[in-house]
Amino acid sequence: MIADRLRGVASSPTLALAASARALVKEGKPVLDFTAGEPDFPTPDHIQRAAVDAIEHNRTKYTPAAGILELRQAIANDLHRRLGDPVKYAPPEVMVCVGAKHALYNALQVLCDPGDEVLVFSPYWVSYLPLVSLAGAKPVLITTREEEHFQPDPSAVSSAITPNTKALILNSPSNPTGAVIEPQRLRALSELALARRVFVISDEIYDQLVFPPASVRSIVQENPKAIEWTILVNGVSKTYAMTGWRIGYAAGPKNVIDAMTALQSHSTSNPTSISQYAALAALTGDQADVRRMVTEFQRRRDHLVNGLNALPGLSCTMPDGAFYAWCNVSRLSAPADAVARRWLEEALIAVVPGEGFGSASHVRFSFAASLETIDQALKRLKQWLQKPVSRIS
Ligand SMILES: Cc1ncc(COP(=O)(O)O)c(C=O)c1O
Repeated sequence: MIADRLRGVASSPTLALAASARALVKEGKPVLDFTAGEPDFPTPDHIQRAAVDAIEHNRTKYTPAAGILELRQAIANDLHRRLGDPVKYAPPEVMVCVGAKHALYNALQVLCDPGDEVLVFSPYWVSYLPLVSLAGAKPVLITTREEEHFQPDPSAVSSAITPNTKALILNSPSNPTGAVIEPQRLRALSELALARRVFVISDEIYDQLVFPPASVRSIVQENPKAIEWTILVNGVSKTYAMTGWRIGYAAGPKNVIDAMTALQSHSTSNPTSISQYAALAALTGDQADVRRMVTEFQRRRDHLVNGLNALPGLSCTMPDGAFYAWCNVSRLSAPADAVARRWLEEALIAVVPGEGFGSASHVRFSFAASLETIDQALKRLKQWLQKPVSRIS
C-alpha cells in the first residue's frame, strides 16, 4: 500500500527512548535530559521583533519560491563576510528552504537518479541515510575512526568512488562527533571531487558553533574551484536558536539551484514569509548573541567532556564544534541502546543511543543543557558506575 521508496524509511530511531523519557517526566521523575538537538537559548529579541514587524506590515503572502531577494542577498553577503574573498555567490546561486534538512532533501532529489551512490561518513547524522534513500540513491558508508578524531580519510573516499558515485556528504562540525574536518583533508577531498566529477553536499549547519582555538574551514574556502561542484547547506536554526522557524539555505551552481527551486515551487511553494524576515534580521543584525552562546556552550562542553573522561568505563573525544559529546560506552560491554535505556531507568539520565548514527559503541550527550544539569548527571553516573551490579555484562 505504501510506496516502495519509503520501505525502510522509519521515523527517527531515537523516538522510542525520547518517548520513555517524556513519560518519566510526566510521572514527575527528575529526568536529566541530554537529547536536545537544539540550543536551549531563546531566539534573540531583535529577531523576534522582526517577525512581529513582518506580520504587522502584512508581509504574510507567498514569496518567490527561492525566497525573498533581500534574504538571498543577505545570505550571499554573510557567506562572503565569513568565508572571505573567493566565496562570492550571487542571489541566483542561493535559495532559501524550509530548514537545512529541506535544503539537503532538495539537493539530493535533484542530483540523484536510481542506482546512484552517495558517500556518507560514519558516524553520520541520522537523517542522511533516509534522505539519500528517498532520492532513490544508495548510501555508501565510509568509516571514520575515533583514534583519528573522526577525520575522513581521502584515500578511503578515493577507493569508494565508482562510476555511480554522484555525491559526497560532508558535515563539519559533525553531528554527532563534533569533529571539524582539517583543512588539508578538505583540500584533498575537494581535489578528488573535482577530478572524479562528484558533487559535494557540504552541511555546514554548525559552522558558527566552534570552540576556540579550533576553527572551521569550508570546502569552498579551501579550494574555490570546488564552488562549481559544491552545494553548500546552512541555515539559521542552530546559530540563532531558531530551530522552529524552519529557515535553511543552499548555495551552489545556478543550474542546481534552479532545479531545486523548481522542485520546491511544487512542494512547499516557499518557506514561511514571516520566518524569512526574521532570518534576514538574524543575518544582518547584531551577532553578539551568537558569541555569547558559543562561550556558554564551550564552558558546558569542557565540564561535560572532562567529567565523562574522569569516570571509569567512559571516554569521550573533545568535540571542536556543535553541541554534542560522543561518549564511548563500549567498556560497559553492552550495545548503546541498552546502556541508554538503563541510564534512563536507573539514573534518570536521557541520552541518545548511537545506533541511529551508525555506532552501537557510543551515546550522544547534547550540551544544550545547563551546567547544573551536567553537574548532577556526572554525579549520578559516578554513582551508577560504582555499583557492581550496574555494569552490564
Ligand atoms: C547535521 C545536521 N544537518 C542538518 C540539520 C537540520 O537543520 P534544520 O533544523 O535547519 O533543518 C541538523 C539538525 O539537527 C543537523 O544536525
